[in-house]
Amino acid sequence: MPHSAPDFRHRSKLGELMDEPCSRDELRACLRDLARVNRWTMAYRPLLHWLDTFLDVLPAHGEPLHILDVACGYGDGLRRIEQWAKARGVAVELTGLDLNPNTTAIAAEASPAASKIQWVCSDIFAYAPRRPVHLVVSSLFTHHLADEDVVRFLQWMEQHARLGWFINDLSRAAIPYHFFRVFAKVARLHPFVQHDGPVSIARSFVPEDWRRMCAAAGLGNRDILIQSFVPARLCVARRKPK
Ligand SMILES: C[S@@+](CC[C@H](N)C(=O)[O-])C[C@H]1O[C@@H](n2cnc3c(N)ncnc32)[C@H](O)[C@@H]1O
Repeated sequence: MPHSAPDFRHRSKLGELMDEPCSRDELRACLRDLARVNRWTMAYRPLLHWLDTFLDVLPAHGEPLHILDVACGYGDGLRRIEQWAKARGVAVELTGLDLNPNTTAIAAEASPAASKIQWVCSDIFAYAPRRPVHLVVSSLFTHHLADEDVVRFLQWMEQHARLGWFINDLSRAAIPYHFFRVFAKVARLHPFVQHDGPVSIARSFVPEDWRRMCAAAGLGNRDILIQSFVPARLCVARRKPK
């Protein structure tokens, strides 16, 4: 069947296979391949650079830095943060949260025995953190939400993140969409990843979307930093004033 490319002027409403019910084994295989793509595309780099910008305030901070990773998936991003903290001697408390109980179980089983990450199964909008959260981060999450829920998520983070928050998602554009379609096939990635990768790009954002949704959440252009990272990442960072 001929492939019809989406209209990149608007966010696509196509669904993702990983959001459909499936077995734990199927989900594990999908999440493992997604983590491989994250590594190959250096997807952790934007967040790790941003975390480095907090190193100056940490000595005055006193308590462990509590970082919440929303929609943690396989947990590879949070395990990378745990390594970052260890390498820099930063005391952290790490929580990985995901809506799907199979996902948090898979993230826990993929973590080394020495890891201190806590895995929590919850819908972020129903989650009331038991302990104060300093930084809220997410990767490849916001494109799963409709615009009005992205605004709710921005408000949730503004309310709960004491120091700031960081969104790492994709840039909606034709070139990465077509490139990933071919790459995922050639690399024989899990069928869900072959399908969901290009769909995720089509469901994602351009900088103007972020300016509009942040404004709807009460945040002006000076409150946020929108940055592109090669390949195909578009990130939004918020550091709260002291
Ligand atoms: C594409 S995965 C992202 C995985 C990982 N963060 C990464 O970068 O590879 C999206 C995740 O969002 C989770 N999710 C979707 N809606 C959610 C919600 N309302 N609250 C918490 N997690 C949610 C899904 O269960 C899924 O694991």
